[in-house]
Amino acid sequence: MTHVQAAAKPSGAPSSDSSKALYGGTGTRRVTVRDIAAAKRRGEKWPMLTAYDAMTASVFDEAGIPVLLVGDSMGNCHLGYDSTVPVTMDEITMLSAAVVRGTSRALVVADLPFGAYQEGAVQALRNATRLVKEAGVGAVKLEGGERSAHQIELLVSSGIPVMAHIGLTPQSVNAFGGYPVQGRGEEAAQQLRRDAKAVQDAGAFAVVLELVPAELAAEVTAALHVPTVGIGAGPDCDAQVLVWTDMAGMTGGRTPRFVKRYAALREVLGDAAKAFAEDVVSAAYPAEEHSFH
Ligand code: KIV
Repeated sequence: MTHVQAAAKPSGAPSSDSSKALYGGTGTRRVTVRDIAAAKRRGEKWPMLTAYDAMTASVFDEAGIPVLLVGDSMGNCHLGYDSTVPVTMDEITMLSAAVVRGTSRALVVADLPFGAYQEGAVQALRNATRLVKEAGVGAVKLEGGERSAHQIELLVSSGIPVMAHIGLTPQSVNAFGGYPVQGRGEEAAQQLRRDAKAVQDAGAFAVVLELVPAELAAEVTAALHVPTVGIGAGPDCDAQVLVWTDMAGMTGGRTPRFVKRYAALREVLGDAAKAFAEDVVSAAYPAEEHSFH
């Protein structure tokens, strides 16, 4: 017996129309949360990446990534903090607006940073409203399961779509004492099931599962009628998200075990900088073709 009920049966036959696919389909208008729900009914998997600036976001938008997250991971990989905790509403609002300006198709989801919703539902609504009005995002994300259900309910009933985030919630790094895998052991697994059910019942349109055993993530994914977005949660989630600097090999030092590096941007950029520097000191740059007369 689990606390998560079996997913509601989708109404109508599953669509096999690949033109509607979130990734690889032919749609050009901006992706909405209704499209996300339809993808779950079709049993379709989809990718999500973080983005923190207009130019990188435009690359991912052109590549067809249907959902971009202006994550508070910007704290670690864009703003130079050592965790997500210091990130402010002003920082997230400014960078979310840039990501919206750099995209025309992706659904842009912005994180509510630490301290922007913990006081209660009214504080959450005030800050989420700012992200929707000032930055133009289509949805917000916040951390926490049962403990954040009131906040999710008020945002959703006010017309703001919410992506929930359970399992390892990095804003609680000081309470966790690090970034341990969550949901191990029967008690912790039951809590994760309760959290998943609570955020779905509160109206979340999707649920991030971070650092959760693959078997438990698969069980929760099968039980929910909203999609799960896995990060370190195995292959059976409906969607997968990675921090873009990890995905593209821009992050220096060690990355978590669940990261797959799809490029070596750090090396490419470093080599380009060295080649430029060598050309400058040897006077090979600028050459005649780069000069005006
Ligand atoms: O802030 C972030 O990038 C996130 C993802 C890791 C899900 O929350």
